[in-house]
Amino acid sequence: MHAFKGNLIWTEEPGRFRTIKDGYLLIEDGVVAGTAEKRPSGIDITDFGSSLILPGLYDLHIHAPQYMFAGLFMDDELLQWLDRHTFPLEARFSDKDFAFDAYTAFVEDLRNSCTARASIFGTIYRESTIMLMSLLEESGLHGYVGKVSMDRNSPDILREDTDEAISEEIRFLEESSSFRNVKPIITPRFIPSCTDRLLSYLGAIAKERNLPVQTHLDENPSEVEWVRELCPGSRSYADAYDSFGLMDGRSIMAHSVWVTEEEMDLLSYHDAWVAHSPSSNMNLSSGIAPVRRFMERGIKTGLATDTAGGSSLSMFRMITDAIQASKLRWRLVDDALPPLRFSEAFYLASKGGGSFFGKAGSFEPGYAADILILEDSSKDMTVLSPELSIEEKLEFYAYRSPDRKPLAKYVEGKRVI
Ligand code: GUN
Ligand code: FE
Repeated sequence: MHAFKGNLIWTEEPGRFRTIKDGYLLIEDGVVAGTAEKRPSGIDITDFGSSLILPGLYDLHIHAPQYMFAGLFMDDELLQWLDRHTFPLEARFSDKDFAFDAYTAFVEDLRNSCTARASIFGTIYRESTIMLMSLLEESGLHGYVGKVSMDRNSPDILREDTDEAISEEIRFLEESSSFRNVKPIITPRFIPSCTDRLLSYLGAIAKERNLPVQTHLDENPSEVEWVRELCPGSRSYADAYDSFGLMDGRSIMAHSVWVTEEEMDLLSYHDAWVAHSPSSNMNLSSGIAPVRRFMERGIKTGLATDTAGGSSLSMFRMITDAIQASKLRWRLVDDALPPLRFSEAFYLASKGGGSFFGKAGSFEPGYAADILILEDSSKDMTVLSPELSIEEKLEFYAYRSPDRKPLAKYVEGKRVI
């Protein structure tokens, strides 16, 4: 047993912070054993002074190969952005040296961020995707990585034929089984990129091998319209995924900006996940997802950067972007859905998305010891600092220092910063 001392803050449900000033977080074998107000006796204590101690944050949807162009090419909408920039640049990951340099930079920056675990897209190239998994494993981060499946509607250099997509997926699953903390996830890019045969195969293999799934749903109006044409027999985009067996309790549906109530019924029925990506949805002019509605309906929701749709790896930026987007949606689109509060958005980024990875994102006993130690940034940035509560110090940090490197980060009790 070991304890960390500092200003503890976490959420167990949306909308309510738990805090302990100068408190103790008890950790045993990589797991949270509890919290205490009084100094526990007979155990080692690491004193982090006035620092904030909070759970790790979780990025439910990010494209590793796109990190190299995060912050570029933001003048296009989704489909043009994919054709003009994303597909040609992802094609370069067939070159292993190029992939190694780009993935090394990605993993180093993700390690130094507040993200503890992530669900990550690679590219169609098996070898460089395995390389990415190996770099992540070395970094101490945890998460899922998918070899992307694509067998239609992309340039020749970034398209597999269907049989090849299937055999490469099987080999990918074999080769990725040796990693401890980084696990494979079935990753059909989105319906326009995959034939019905490939989608059915991927759905079947996910069921057969009990694997999670990640893909994109209802991101942009022109994409939604295209899927309507591609799947004339389906009632909706979500229904199409369902018909291929790709929607269940371990499927992440990134974006879900334009989902109808009927599609939400399907998400609820299957207990599927939404990865809300507010920065990306603004950058690519996709829209504003009805996150409050997801929460009202009990749809499992986490936050995501969707880099390079999002230009930043910072989950604190996702928290503040989610709040700001929800305010615009409330004011301009639907005043029946009140904006997110800071405590709610923090919950989505911690326990909300963390639960995809198991017991992660909270300080309740039995949760993984995924821990961030953050300097109290208000100390050197505002004279109000001595008057601020722990919640206020965290809010200040999120808005004013979202990119600051944590003083320390632990994933399952292992120090990675
Ligand atoms: N839909 C299909 N592929 C992508 C991608 O790479 N990024 C985003 N934002 N949406 C997608
Ligand atoms: Fe994406």
